[in-house]
Amino acid sequence: MAESIYLPKNASKTEKYKAILPQIEALISSETDLYANLANVSAVLKEAFNFFWVGFYLVKEEELVLGPFQGPLACTRITFGKGVCGTAWKEEKTQLVPDVEAFPGHIACSSASKSEIVIPGIIDGKVWCVLDVDSDQLDDFDQNDKIFLEKLMNILSKQGKS
Ligand code: SME
Repeated sequence: MAESIYLPKNASKTEKYKAILPQIEALISSETDLYANLANVSAVLKEAFNFFWVGFYLVKEEELVLGPFQGPLACTRITFGKGVCGTAWKEEKTQLVPDVEAFPGHIACSSASKSEIVIPGIIDGKVWCVLDVDSDQLDDFDQNDKIFLEKLMNILSKQGKS
């Protein structure tokens, strides 16, 4: 297994995504344990982008339950349809939130969080987890984050299926 991730120097966000996605794919293909892989993916995203908070919530019965993450302490359980994460689960769609205060029902795990993107992972038409990324800056995520993080969730879901 690779012990480090190669990141191009002075790279744009897009260049970083392009560099890390194949490396993540290789990293997770050599490990079958889901939690080990989610933990490493959180670490790689934190290292590459220094996100304020990045991590996974996993669908367990009627709730999302906190999984591997990097960043400050977070809420452990989120109900279906609640908050940004529960909405991504319910609508089965990425939620790009430029200002969390303007999102009805946003769950503030940390008052420092200002913008957020949540991407559902889908296997056989069912959401099995969400990836949540928070920033302490307003409007910090764009269509590029959406495109590449959705690709990442497809890679993870493909591997989860096999
Ligand atoms: N803000 C999320 C809750 C999770 S934390 O941000 C880590 C939400 O509204 O679902």
